Amino acid sequence: MTVLVTGGAGYIGSHTVVALSEAGRRVVVLDDLSNSSERAVDAVRALVGADVAFVRGDAADVNLVSQAIVEHDVDEVVHFAAFKSVSESVERPLAYFANNMGSLIGVVEAMAGTGIGRLVFSSSCTVYGEPDEVPVTEASPTGAANPYGWTKLHGEQFLAQVAAASELDVMLLRYFNPVGAHPSGTIGEDPNGIPENLVPYLMQVATGQLDRLRVFGDDYETPDGTAIRDYLHVVDLAEGHVAALDALASHPGCTAVNLGTGRGYSVLEVVTAAEAVLGRPIPHEVVGRRPGDVARIWAGTERAEHVLGWTATRDLAEMLADHWRWQEANPDGFGD
Ligand SMILES: NC(=O)c1ccc[n+]([C@@H]2O[C@H](COP(=O)([O-])OP(=O)(O)OC[C@H]3O[C@@H](n4cnc5c(N)ncnc54)[C@H](O)[C@@H]3O)[C@@H](O)[C@H]2O)c1
Repeated sequence: MTVLVTGGAGYIGSHTVVALSEAGRRVVVLDDLSNSSERAVDAVRALVGADVAFVRGDAADVNLVSQAIVEHDVDEVVHFAAFKSVSESVERPLAYFANNMGSLIGVVEAMAGTGIGRLVFSSSCTVYGEPDEVPVTEASPTGAANPYGWTKLHGEQFLAQVAAASELDVMLLRYFNPVGAHPSGTIGEDPNGIPENLVPYLMQVATGQLDRLRVFGDDYETPDGTAIRDYLHVVDLAEGHVAALDALASHPGCTAVNLGTGRGYSVLEVVTAAEAVLGRPIPHEVVGRRPGDVARIWAGTERAEHVLGWTATRDLAEMLADHWRWQEANPDGFGD
């Protein structure tokens, strides 16, 4: 089997390419490097000891994607390519809709034109908006609070409708909060500018690149007042994609599946766990809530267990230790 991985030079994509290669699949990465480095692809090649083909370009370019599918005899696609910053999406909604919908439509059109029909799509727990009840299951109400979230929700709806009218079979994977890095410390998250997410921010405080962590709000209705998220190890998440491709054969149509651990940690619990793993205090201060942040969310995991035969196995300490190994060795990420 040969898999086309759009956005495969990015954080989750690069880890998924490793997992796919280890599972015996050939991989072709297509990425425009708008938020990543070709060095990530080199690092992946070094890790898996196999050739990973790389096509530089835009996933919205139907001709380019079709050519990659035909030339490399691709059977199935994992589509990561998208912009992912919530705050940037509020400032640049047009760019977000154009890129996230454009690349998805480009990929689906190229698949239809070349006659391949198995697709895994990167969705997000952001499609649950502010949930009334936790854990959220795939049947929970959906909504979006920002343009980024809408691109995911519209992407899901678009795929459900194309799947209903054609031979396309899709897994919509709703990720919770990926953190961590490959245990080798040679690939990991390489955020542009000041990180928006807790763990990359905290790690840059630990290296001294940032002076203190800002905790956004301690007046939520949670036990310690800080927001609760379901953090999962990026290697568990990567393995979930292999399981999703395997499950497509027996699950035609369009299926949404949560990928999370089923347990939430508050910001302060993560800080305490990081201090224990790193063996040093992480300077932090509480500031006001950040607009658009939900108080608490974690995943219902039954469908992932049932449909994919997948559960996350790595705990928070392992996530933080692996993230730190990467961050300490590569404080400037891939360096370009
Ligand atoms: N990281 C998270 O917390 C998270 C959570 C939920 C969902 N997601 C989704 O998972 C996917 C991967 O996220 P990530 O954290 O690895 O982000 P990332 O930015 O590291 O990876 C995305 C990759 O896609 C590439 N790309 C963007 N637009 C492209 C285009 N038009 N054509 C070709 N390549 C393009 C970028 O260069 C980058 O390498 C995204 O779709 C994101 O929305 C991420």
